[in-house]
Amino acid sequence: MRKITVSGNGGYDILIKNGILASCGQYVRKVTKASRALIISDSNVFSLYGQAVASSLAQNGFTVASHVFPAGEASKNLNTVEGMIKALCENELSRNDIVVALGGGVTGDMAGFASAIYLRGIDFVQIPTTLLSQVDSSVGGKTGCDLAFGKNLIGAFHNPKLVLIDPETIKTLPDRYKNDGMGEIIKYALIKSEALYEKLASCNNIDSVLSDVIYTCVDIKRQVVENDFTEKGERMLLNFGHTLGHAIEKHQNFSGLAHGEAVGVGMLKITKAAERAGLAGIGTAQKIETLLNKFSLPTAFSGNTAELVNIMLYDKKRRGNSINLVIAESVGSSFVKAFPITELEGFFAEA
Ligand SMILES: NC(=O)c1ccc[n+]([C@@H]2O[C@H](COP(=O)([O-])OP(=O)(O)OC[C@H]3O[C@@H](n4cnc5c(N)ncnc54)[C@H](O)[C@@H]3O)[C@@H](O)[C@H]2O)c1
Ligand SMILES: [Zn+2]
Repeated sequence: MRKITVSGNGGYDILIKNGILASCGQYVRKVTKASRALIISDSNVFSLYGQAVASSLAQNGFTVASHVFPAGEASKNLNTVEGMIKALCENELSRNDIVVALGGGVTGDMAGFASAIYLRGIDFVQIPTTLLSQVDSSVGGKTGCDLAFGKNLIGAFHNPKLVLIDPETIKTLPDRYKNDGMGEIIKYALIKSEALYEKLASCNNIDSVLSDVIYTCVDIKRQVVENDFTEKGERMLLNFGHTLGHAIEKHQNFSGLAHGEAVGVGMLKITKAAERAGLAGIGTAQKIETLLNKFSLPTAFSGNTAELVNIMLYDKKRRGNSINLVIAESVGSSFVKAFPITELEGFFAEA
């Protein structure tokens, strides 16, 4: 078993181990005196892993209930969160009880948000089951859901008490979502780690190095969130490719490209634009494209740039008349740059 500890106020452990899901109860028990646990999961994941998690929690003395919502980003809204809150009420969870978020980023973000606002905040544990949620969304305490105006526009910072990562769950993940998680993994390499880039570029079989890669990414995220929990500086780097990626997702009504796919296109487009503007070394975009191709991620989006820019104006990274964009100047090195919104369309025009 490998352990990463996120330190600071409200610190927590992240445990990575094959098979840890089926013995989750013993680890959850160590971080809480709760008598009740509500498992929140989506319709796909609950049928695969719900029983194992419920049994393990019950064996460790929890009174277990579950709440299942329809899988998919289209569910990531306030109605679904309200359904979760009702389940918390119906099952009489108290301030001392605990929520167990079992699933991908959609589940973790919303279950975390419901935990943050129910009774002004109760504990929750993350058991992420997608590659994306294992390397990214389960760590760092960002929770929330989408609004009709855009993605993740409502939410709260609420740290989990514990994150349990079972890399074996990736075996049941459809290929598309596995590749999708690779989008975020490529992001970590670009913003922080040339060594990770080389590992991804040179491996013949990602499965054989996946556990290591998950560990590396989680550790990068740990370091970033420890330095800047509320995203005033360094944490913004994690948004590389996201401003454009989110705009693409919104443009397609959250039913086109998946998150990591859209982020991949976003990273490539902004890096092409940055190369043209002299902000990134020539060849950086090509290196991104090589990895996107290797992991069967899309490299283009057929939308209109002006429309995407218009959507970006609602992005959370907007500050008054400018918007913060993350630029990778070379593999492993990145910075944040504020762009006046009037320059955005020109910047992205030919990318
Ligand atoms: N909080 C953060 O810091 C943060 C960071 C990155 C992304 N996110 C959010 O994460 C979300 C995307 O997460 P996601 O890609 O995990 O999406 P998701 O939760 O919708 O999962 C993708 C699909 O895989 C299915 N699934 C999950 N685990 C499975 C398994 N082991 N086997 C089979 N099927 C499985 C799900 O049912 C779903 O259909 C976005 O909403 C994004 O905004 C949040
Ligand atoms: Zn992301």
